[in-house]
Amino acid sequence: MTTGMKKGLTAYGDAEFSLFLRKAFIKAMGLSDDALNRPIVGIANTFSDYNACHGNVPRLVEAVKRGVMLAGGLPMEFPTISLHESFAFPTSMFLRNLMAMDTEEMLRAQPMDAVVLIGGCDKTLPAQMMAAASADVPAIVVPVGPMLVGHHKGETLGACTDCRRLWGEFRAGRIDAAEIEAINGRLAPTAGTCMVMGTASTMACIVETMGLGLAQSATIPATHADRLRSAEASGRCAVALAAGTGPRPSALMTRAAFRNALVVMQAIGGSTNALIHLTAVAGRLGQRIDLDEVDRLGREVPVLVDLKPSGRHYMEHFHWAGGVPRLLHELAPWLDLDAPTVEGATLRTRIDGIDTATPQDVIRPCANPIHAGGSMAVLRGNLAPRGAILKQSAASPALLQHEGRAVVFDSLEDLAARIDSADLDVAAGDVLVLKNAGPIGAPGMPEAGYLPIPKKLAAQGVKDMVRLSDARMSGTAFGTIVLHMTPEAALGGPLAQVRSGDRIRLDTAARRIDLLVDAAEIERRREEFVRVGSPGAAGRPDRGYAALFHRSVLQADEGCDFDFLVPGFSRRD
Ligand code: FES
Repeated sequence: MTTGMKKGLTAYGDAEFSLFLRKAFIKAMGLSDDALNRPIVGIANTFSDYNACHGNVPRLVEAVKRGVMLAGGLPMEFPTISLHESFAFPTSMFLRNLMAMDTEEMLRAQPMDAVVLIGGCDKTLPAQMMAAASADVPAIVVPVGPMLVGHHKGETLGACTDCRRLWGEFRAGRIDAAEIEAINGRLAPTAGTCMVMGTASTMACIVETMGLGLAQSATIPATHADRLRSAEASGRCAVALAAGTGPRPSALMTRAAFRNALVVMQAIGGSTNALIHLTAVAGRLGQRIDLDEVDRLGREVPVLVDLKPSGRHYMEHFHWAGGVPRLLHELAPWLDLDAPTVEGATLRTRIDGIDTATPQDVIRPCANPIHAGGSMAVLRGNLAPRGAILKQSAASPALLQHEGRAVVFDSLEDLAARIDSADLDVAAGDVLVLKNAGPIGAPGMPEAGYLPIPKKLAAQGVKDMVRLSDARMSGTAFGTIVLHMTPEAALGGPLAQVRSGDRIRLDTAARRIDLLVDAAEIERRREEFVRVGSPGAAGRPDRGYAALFHRSVLQADEGCDFDFLVPGFSRRD
């Protein structure tokens, strides 16, 4: 097998000349023949001045390089796209597949015997997992780690559950402009990913559970020395992978590993986004995430980790309570502990002998969960024939069974224009409906599912309402919010047929979301949709990545990957 500098030679029709030329150029970096003959470990550097969550990446790269060199390898750092949630227009999800393609192609194009993938902010770990699954270069993932918590007037604060909660207080007039400005400087006090159980934390826990990263790599705070030691150990591990003694991503991303990931996703009160990302990663390997199994696990697996937004604590508290290994110990009845890990062991070896005696109140025992019924419920019904998701652990129990009048917004622009209007005909028991915020309609399926409570209701003290959309929601958000309604409105999904004033019933116990309009009227509206289309949907772009996205993106139940990246998938049109 070709290794090191001889891998993937540039095609000149003369392999020896290609190698001669490659070495001539790389020697300009001052590398010796001894260095160039070592196993090569690529390091995907996702540092960017636009990505504060990745602010510690330069030090992590340094630590990984140290580990690689201590184990006798040659580290080769290279850049890829980096995505931060607040610095990606129109939404980072629009760019996840671009990052996955960039990373996959760089893994293929450049000579490396193994790779260390450093990621963290929401879409970066999923993109790297998708790339690793497709390229199948031996890989280890190093999450950047969570931020430390902030403090304000004696209260502990965290991005971004408290960003949303306190912004809601400001909108309702209970916090003034000066105070919200002070809070703004305290919500994200260090580098690292959001320290609640948002998408970044969820995906980091999944990476660790699937054995793609080392034990504790999900939870060590971004700024702690242990994070650097974990990066160094990951560098050492990568050299073993480069020598061919460890499993490739395809050997780690087994059906059992995906099921373990779904169990953990439920038990941590994980982000609903993780379901889309896991579906996309599995799809790269020809596997399917079965929504019925997700719901079954959601009924069985209790929420054990007491973190915001479902609970009270933050990631650093989860870490000191024992992190993922201790959680896996509690979840053992649901897990396949023989699933392999990147260091060539199994999940079982990671939980053997862990400390379960030290008292802590962050990782609950199964006998005392924070939510008995699991985190996510999969809904169907005439409004979501291919499924919708409700994070019931972050919802208001009183709204889980609810019938109300629809107040419909045709698009994000329509929502922004009317939600706070004094003229908006809305009451606390209504159901807010947002259309055309799905993968194609928005485009990019933004995290717009957390529709704001209309200002006039917020001022009356209304904190939650049933909200429906084909959008996603940040894992840091909370409320009785039905997401990922599939097929989306822009494709003529049933959501497109809802009109203001219709009755809608959410029946979480029966796992249904239904439009209470007779079938003949729904069909009449569907025929009208076929004639005139959806008034709020984005148009078809005619160039560049946006055109590729529009033509190729799949629906939420297919992971929103591009059709041409999924083995055996046929084009949508
Ligand atoms: Fe980067 Fe939350 S914004 S993880």
